[in-house]
Amino acid sequence: MDLQTSIKSGKELTSEELEVVNFWREKEFNKEPWSHDGINYFHRNLFFIVRDSEQIVSFGMLIPIDIFIDKQKYSIDGIATIFSTIRGKGYGKYLMERMKEYIISRDKIAIGFCENKNTEFYKKCGYGIWKNGIDNFIYIDENNNEVKDEGGDTLYIDNSEQTLENAIQSDKLIYHYFPHW
Ligand SMILES: CC(C)(COP(=O)(O)OP(=O)(O)OC[C@H]1O[C@@H](n2cnc3c(N)ncnc32)[C@H](O)[C@@H]1OP(=O)(O)O)[C@@H](O)C(=O)NCCC(=O)NCCS
Repeated sequence: MDLQTSIKSGKELTSEELEVVNFWREKEFNKEPWSHDGINYFHRNLFFIVRDSEQIVSFGMLIPIDIFIDKQKYSIDGIATIFSTIRGKGYGKYLMERMKEYIISRDKIAIGFCENKNTEFYKKCGYGIWKNGIDNFIYIDENNNEVKDEGGDTLYIDNSEQTLENAIQSDKLIYHYFPHW
């Protein structure tokens, strides 16, 4: 394998990269395509694009998000949009390992959500797993309503003096103003 990873903001995605990202988001999760024109919140996200001999084989992103534990604010990385375009060849694991290295180098907390069927994959990639962790996340919407997210596990890296690990141990609620990512 001749794998290369580029790390860049959403704003810097080439049209080829954006096309591949949009193709898979639409195919797997029926999401509207992103565009560099119009509303482009994805521009502030950090993308990890893995290529094998030029072909894009996996990609993922980190979203800057604030969470609140006991009213204390933490700026974290939200892990999202994890895809392999060719499955079962180790490309997903390679991607998650590169993302983990990056997260650890910045001493931050990173959190993502996953369906139970993918939990084992993230575990194999060296991420912490908070079983049914999503139940502890409360989204405060634009009308200040508390919205509970749906069932699923939470994957995380906590390189921040165990802030998140401690919250998990004490079954704390985690509040955020950014909708489920
Ligand atoms: C989840 C996904 C990214 C995995 O990528 P992949 O490239 O197929 O995974 P890899 O080949 O790197 O697998 C790494 C290891 O995890 C295992 N694995 C992969 N997917 C798994 C799953 N769903 N359940 C259990 N184990 C899994 C592999 O068997 C492999 O194990 P090994 O190291 O013991 O051989 C890919 O299936 C995908 O793109 N799915 C659709 C999008 C999606 O659901 N993304 C996740 C959103 S939460």
